[in-house]
Formats: sequence, C-alpha cells, structure tokens
Amino acid sequence: MYTEFCKSLGIEFPIFAFTHCRDVVAAVSNAGGFGVLGAVGFSPEQLEVECKWIDEHVGDNPYGVDLVIPQKYAGMGELDPVKLEEQLRAAIPPQHREFAAKLLADHGIPEIPPDERHHELLGMSLATATPQLDVALRHDKVRMIANALGTPPPEVVERVHESGRIIGALCGKVHQAIGHREAGLDFIIAQGTEGGGHTGEIGSMVLWPQIIEAVKPTPVLAAGGIATGAQMAAALAMGAQGIWTGSIWLTVQEAECPPPQMASYLQATSQDTVRSRSFTGKACRMLRNDWTEAWADDETPDPLGMPLQNMVTMDAIVRTSRYASSPQSQAVAFNPVGQTVGMMNEIESVRDVITGLVEQYVDAVDQLNALQPD
Ligand SMILES: Cc1cc2nc3c(=O)[nH]c(=O)nc-3n(C[C@H](O)[C@H](O)[C@H](O)COP(=O)(O)O)c2cc1C
Repeated sequence: MYTEFCKSLGIEFPIFAFTHCRDVVAAVSNAGGFGVLGAVGFSPEQLEVECKWIDEHVGDNPYGVDLVIPQKYAGMGELDPVKLEEQLRAAIPPQHREFAAKLLADHGIPEIPPDERHHELLGMSLATATPQLDVALRHDKVRMIANALGTPPPEVVERVHESGRIIGALCGKVHQAIGHREAGLDFIIAQGTEGGGHTGEIGSMVLWPQIIEAVKPTPVLAAGGIATGAQMAAALAMGAQGIWTGSIWLTVQEAECPPPQMASYLQATSQDTVRSRSFTGKACRMLRNDWTEAWADDETPDPLGMPLQNMVTMDAIVRTSRYASSPQSQAVAFNPVGQTVGMMNEIESVRDVITGLVEQYVDAVDQLNALQPD
C-alpha cells in the first residue's frame, strides 16, 4: 500500500484522517498515517495554539490543515471578516432566528451566559480562511493544505505552492474534479455521498473511478464511506493513491467528544444519517434528529444559504455543546457523520484503528490473490 503519494509525503500508510481534534491529528501521523486538522471552527489565535501543540507532539512527522473556502457564498466580495459578519447579520430574516431560538427553548437548552458570547461567522469564507492559512503556513510540519466546498482561489494555490507545500481539495462531481486539476491542485479528494459532513449525491463506488480517470495523472484520495481495510483495498484497486477518512475518527479514544454525542454515534445505524442544509446552508450529512426534521418541514422556514444559515445555527451548536448533558441536547445538536456510523460500534485508540485498517487490507489482498489459478 506504499503509493507514490505516500512516498512524496514520507508517510508509511496511505491513510488520511480529517479531524477537528489535535490529539487525533498527532496520533494518526505518529501511527504512520497523515492527520489533517480541520481549521473551520478555530479563530486564527486558537489555530496557532493547536498547531503549536501538534508540532510538539508529532515528532518529525508531517500533518495537514484543512480550510473551508466555498466556491459560492453570500458576501463573497468582502475580505474584511468584521465587515463581512456585520453585512451578513443584516441579511438574516428575523423569523429564522426566532425559529431556531424556539426549537432550543422547546428542548430546554439553557442560554449561553452573556460573558461567553461568541462570533457567529466561522471560517467558511476567504475573509476568515486567509488568516487561518497565514497561521498554517508558519508551521513547518504542516506539509499539506486541503480545501472543502470548492476550488481554492488562485492566490491561495499560489501562496501554498510558493511555500513549498501541496494543496488539494474535496469534490463530489467529475466536473468539480476537473476544475481542481485545471487550477493546478496537487491532489484531489473524491468524496462519495456516504461521507460525513458536506457531501454530494453520487456514491463512492461510482464516483471514485470516474474522477480517477478524468484527472489522471493527478493523485486522487478516495473519501466517503470507508471504515475497513477491505474498502481501502477497493479504493486502491480502482487507482486511488490513498483514502481520506473522517467519520471513523469521531469515536476514537483520543477524540474530544462530549459523552452524549459519542453515545449517539456509537448507537446509530447507517440509516440514521441524512443530508440536510439545516445547520450550514449546504447539504451536509449528519445524524437525523428533531432539528433536521423541523427545518425540513414544509411549514417552517427554508434554511438560508451559506454562511447565513450557519450564523443562525451557531447559537444551537454552542449551546448544545456547552450543555451537552442537558437531557434533550442531542435532539437538536449538530452531529455530522457519514453512513459508516453504523460500523462505528466501539471506542478504540487511533493506533488500533490504523493497525486494523492495515491488517484488513492485507487480508483483503490475500483473499483476492487466493482467487488466482495456480
Ligand atoms: C464531523 C465531520 C466534520 C467535517 N468537516 C469537514 C471540514 O470542515 N472540512 C472538510 O474538508 N471536510 C470535512 N468533513 C469531511 C471529511 O473531510 C471527509 O471527507 C469525510 O468525512 C469522508 O467520509 P467518511 O466520513 O465516510 O469517512 C467532515 C466530516 C465529518 C465526519
């Protein structure tokens, strides 16, 4: 499984792990994979703290940072994060705020104390992602930048390349992958609909080979629905240079996850996820709950676009996390995860997950080899 892409990054296994937890990033890179820190929820100052911590805990191993610069979003031209937030706040209809507030009140979720107020605009814009990129590029062990929700703008690609690093991006359609390649990206992450977080409509088994063929020789990482080494073998058999995983790292020992949320993930089956615009404004796979059902109802407001919907729902995300043990918090919490949630039934260490993937991969390859005539 030692692919050219592994070689270029100096890693042992072609296992890429997207996570918001610094402990998971370091543990994956230390176990021979490649940890990628999702920056979207961090202010530049917090991101600096996270990267510094990872630098100190990852030895000489490399890791990556993931940004979210959508191809299209409200307020795109504004590059000042403070002005952008003001401008967007004015565009939010009051009934959306009222509906969100009522859902939280009906579920008995306490309000955040006034001295703990938070920003509503996350890093889902060029204005907010640029300072995050500034931080990432100051850390030598960050060897890769990835971007979600679109082809990163040319100035971002140029900056990453000038710094001697590689840059790639996720996509869920062939034409998006071709756009990434034409923008000069070094690798492409093809994510099938099964995956957690923002995701398209085409299944991995159908999407991966089409994208691999369309962009070759650009390396493609297969994402969406991978939880076992046999699935990894399937991805590599189709020509992927590695796997890009997200969901399976939510239930590892090292993950920072409130116990009620961890319990929801461990109990859920593969039928319990839904693609919903109710939290971020773009279709995102998450656990179905009262919140996703309420916003899908014909009688209720339609979710706004990105990042407006996210600004409306930030209060829900913060409150359900701060008061995670409140009895009904999971009914209105944001639990992004893919269909592999039905295969995530116990808490394991990162090292055990990686060892499991590698051993299952070897078994799968042996099984195929055993089919060869003598
Ligand atoms: C909780 C969660 C949050 C995610 N957030 C992001 C994100 O901020 N940026 C990004 O590029 N991908 C994000 N993703 C998608 C992952 O990078 C990855 O492509 C996906 O999880 C792969 O499919 P899988 O969940 O079946 O492993 C997220 C996935 C999950 C499960």
